[in-house]
Amino acid sequence: MFKVLTYDNISIAGLERLPRDRYEVASEIQHPDAILLRSHNLHGVPIPESVKAVGRAGAGVNNIPVAEYSKRGVPVFNAPGANANAVKELVIAGMLLAARNICAAWDFARQLEGDDEVIHHQVEKHKKQFAGFELAGKTLGVLGLGAIGVKVANAAVALGMHVIGYDPLLTVESAWQLSSSVARAASIDDLIAKVDLLTLHVPLNDQTRHLVNAARIGIMKKGAVLLNFSRAGIVDDASVCNALNTGHLTAYVTDFPSRVMLKHPRAIVLPHIGASTAEAEENCAVFVADRIRDFLENGNIRHS
Ligand code: MLT
Repeated sequence: MFKVLTYDNISIAGLERLPRDRYEVASEIQHPDAILLRSHNLHGVPIPESVKAVGRAGAGVNNIPVAEYSKRGVPVFNAPGANANAVKELVIAGMLLAARNICAAWDFARQLEGDDEVIHHQVEKHKKQFAGFELAGKTLGVLGLGAIGVKVANAAVALGMHVIGYDPLLTVESAWQLSSSVARAASIDDLIAKVDLLTLHVPLNDQTRHLVNAARIGIMKKGAVLLNFSRAGIVDDASVCNALNTGHLTAYVTDFPSRVMLKHPRAIVLPHIGASTAEAEENCAVFVADRIRDFLENGNIRHS
């Protein structure tokens, strides 16, 4: 019997890939053979002697000390691409939220009171303040052209945007999937300087921590919009906050709440829901559960 320790809400479809006659799956279990998790932080948590594999039902693995597990010969499986569609859709929504001032307009509408005639009068009097801009014709920069970045870039092309991408580690697979309408920048700074909106799709590691800092924000166009659906640490929130205060950035749309951003009038802050769709949760859980099972039962290490 294999024992699998689970954290977070792993989709039932994934758990069902571990048959009950051979697997005991629980959120509290002694001597687990494998750990299956989403965003639970394993840094600083002693690695149980019994653990042979870890599965992250998502793309990023920054909540897992992968090097320490590797030293112990424990593979860490993730699910790159399995939630890319969900994240792509939220990034497009994020661009629209910012471009059309949807959050502020919605807040305003919900506070209206009186009969329909009064409401109509108030709407006509105040709606000018919510006038936005159209995405079509604007230039979007996509930093990181992995599974998510490619989908975002292609969707933005379909919306009539000019799209420029940058990824020093572009894979052949991503290059094939990328629309031929997507231009390529020569460097991060080259990308950042040219765009009206910038969306980040890079993993968090020592090279990418605070990749978007005061110096980089300084070379962005005045009035640009920054979107972060990657990881909190990629952006230096204090610098973004300054840029929002001076108006150098018009808006910051992020999936990672922080104290400094939560109440900022120009920030749109979502509670890490990029991958939170039924479809993505199921895809990710099934993907990693299959790989854990293949490893425990057959010794196969399949990352794709
Ligand atoms: C990811 O890394 O793909 C997401 O953070 C997944 C999640 O929200 O659990």
